[in-house]
Amino acid sequence: MNEKEFQFEKIDIINYLNTVEEYELIKQLDKVTDIATKRCAKVKSGEKVLILGDTGSDERIMDLFLYKCREVGAEALKMSFHFVESVQKIPERVSRAMRECDVLFPFTKTAILYSDAIERTLEKGRILFMANLETHNMLRPVVLEADFEAMSQIGSIIKSIIQNAKKLQVKTKAGTDAIMYMDSNRPVKCRDSVADKVGELDYLPGGSWSAAPIEESVNGIFVVDVSLYPIGLLNEPVIFTYKNGWIENVEGGKHAKKMKDWLEYRQKINNGEKMHYFFSHIGGGINKRASATGNLMEDERIWNAFCISGGSNQMVFKGKNNAHSHWDGMCLDCTLIADGVQIIEDGKFVHPQLAKFEK
Ligand SMILES: [Fe+2]
Repeated sequence: MNEKEFQFEKIDIINYLNTVEEYELIKQLDKVTDIATKRCAKVKSGEKVLILGDTGSDERIMDLFLYKCREVGAEALKMSFHFVESVQKIPERVSRAMRECDVLFPFTKTAILYSDAIERTLEKGRILFMANLETHNMLRPVVLEADFEAMSQIGSIIKSIIQNAKKLQVKTKAGTDAIMYMDSNRPVKCRDSVADKVGELDYLPGGSWSAAPIEESVNGIFVVDVSLYPIGLLNEPVIFTYKNGWIENVEGGKHAKKMKDWLEYRQKINNGEKMHYFFSHIGGGINKRASATGNLMEDERIWNAFCISGGSNQMVFKGKNNAHSHWDGMCLDCTLIADGVQIIEDGKFVHPQLAKFEK
């Protein structure tokens, strides 16, 4: 980088520093950027980096990423497009740029995760997903104080337990009581925020595991009592009853009513398709610094909260649900039993390999 370029980069950042508050904000964002580019994505000199936003993105953090990536000698490019409601409408030029990069940092509000462009990007590159977040969501302990080392260790242990499990039982004191069977040919995903190899997609904030059970084997009751997408933070539980993988009943108060309305609405706009009533995936949080915010990017990381979801699960989890919709809900402090062996009890790891992480 020559002197002129360096000054230009500096000016880009300094333009934002009009007030003391903004200065403090940029200092915090600077830490997030360091975590993302160095610790998580491990951006290297000569790599092609794409920082991708849309009309809903915060340009300040995108500029910081641009600056940090160029600082290590990467060929960094920032690109922004107009928000689109459907991934089919992502401009072709954007998809092409995604496919041609080594590292992609998405900051979009457009829900690009399940697009073909993401799948194609992973053929030659890696992705650290930071989309669907507001800037203040990135400045929380779930990112700034995360124990990345512990998350990686827990992740690999959980992965082998779930990958080898046949029958899972999940319970909570709030009333969750369900069983399901696993298919060892389906992948178990662990998100520890590290995306340093071709084909890897991880998230910041990170700290969760997830897998798709055999959909029709899911039977029982799930009491979602903390966070539910698309509703948000819950102040009363929403109770889902499943029979052979299908939602049989949604009960509760006003949040349950809203959820039922959403399920019906999605059916209507997708020409009567009902696959979002069919099971998708399960998961659990392994980030001790996560707490309930109403944003699933953090709430799915809550320590030993259990995740259930409905709808699409083919691309990531190799399941058989081809829905056009997807939703997720979290049940706090779960008890998880795999083939009769207790892994988690009331929100605490009790498995011999995992109990040490409670200290
Ligand atoms: Fe999900």
